[in-house]
Amino acid sequence: MHSKLNSLVLLVLVTAANAQLHLLARATGKQYFGTATDNPELVDKPYLKQLSNNHDFGQITPSNSMKWFATEPVQGKFNFTGAEEIVKLAKKNKQLVRGHNCVWHSQLADWVESGAFDNVTLTSIMIKHCYTLVKHFKGDILQWDVVNEPFNEDGTFRSTVFYDTIGESYIETALRSARAADPSAKLYINDYNIEGLSPKSTGMLNLVKSLKAKRAPIDGIGIQGHLIVGQLPSFDSIKSNLQAFTNLGVDVAITELDIRMPTPPTTDSLAQQKIDYETVVKACNEVKRCVGVTIWDWTDKYSWVPGVFTGEGAALPWDDDLKKKPAYDGIAAGLRG
Ligand SMILES: *[C@@H]1O[C@H](CO)[C@@H](O)[C@H](O)[C@H]1NC(C)=O
Ligand SMILES: *[C@@H]1O[C@H](CO)[C@@H](O)[C@H](O)[C@H]1NC(C)=O
Repeated sequence: MHSKLNSLVLLVLVTAANAQLHLLARATGKQYFGTATDNPELVDKPYLKQLSNNHDFGQITPSNSMKWFATEPVQGKFNFTGAEEIVKLAKKNKQLVRGHNCVWHSQLADWVESGAFDNVTLTSIMIKHCYTLVKHFKGDILQWDVVNEPFNEDGTFRSTVFYDTIGESYIETALRSARAADPSAKLYINDYNIEGLSPKSTGMLNLVKSLKAKRAPIDGIGIQGHLIVGQLPSFDSIKSNLQAFTNLGVDVAITELDIRMPTPPTTDSLAQQKIDYETVVKACNEVKRCVGVTIWDWTDKYSWVPGVFTGEGAALPWDDDLKKKPAYDGIAAGLRG
């Protein structure tokens, strides 16, 4: 299609009252609005139909099937079946993919921790894992979360098998192996509780600064965004923090947004949730190098929250019956700015 006509069609679509999230994101200069999804959910036909609507979701993230436990459950025996299913679906739907993730202390394969590997051995295991995973999907992935959750709340490095055995350099080493495997993918470090200004955000800031100084391949900071209704950092704190990150010369993305509440939801809590979604999305919207927002699945039916936080849930913009909640309009408002 002619590009002028293309933008005209887009403009007409997004000015309609029922404008959809990815189209709104594109119209405001973002790369995408997206959602996580998980392989077992794909047998749910109404779920799959909405997931495949690329006017709402221009990007998807596999919430589990690229993790270490799934991709290298036994040393040297790689399994990409689940991950390939998601990438294939994204291609069919013309959606972008975030790769999640190479190196994380959680949902790791047991053998990595139980092996009591020394520095040299674990380093080569990590390089091989990351390189093989990223290489397998070369050309298919927009952004990789190369390192996930490296920090403690006070901004010091989290004690993990990687940090304890290899030291801080595990991060740079993992990034370099991912870059070698797919030079076109944007490489991210991803963490939670770094939405607003905080000691943990400062830890991330300092890490990225030092990686930049070493010319390590770091392209972006992933801000997970697992938040609680009524307890967000202020809009100014979030926006200043995103700005401070991008001032380092990297992109940022909101990668796992959900905003939970005590269940069952009330009219008031749903109204506050709408405001809170708008706050986060608007902050991203106003920071040029914030490239997109991803919610951590889109319906409460498949949210991870109730399984982990007892008595909490209703964290997503669609309810258990796949119906839009007020939060949907909050996101749309945030994208409109
Ligand atoms: C690979 O992963 C898929 C999806 O989780 C699973 O069904 C299959 O059994 C695995 N294959 C092997 C050889 O473990
Ligand atoms: C592991 O080896 C690397 C590379 O030689 C070195 O930089 C690092 O300090 C070592 N880590 C530890 C904890 O000894």
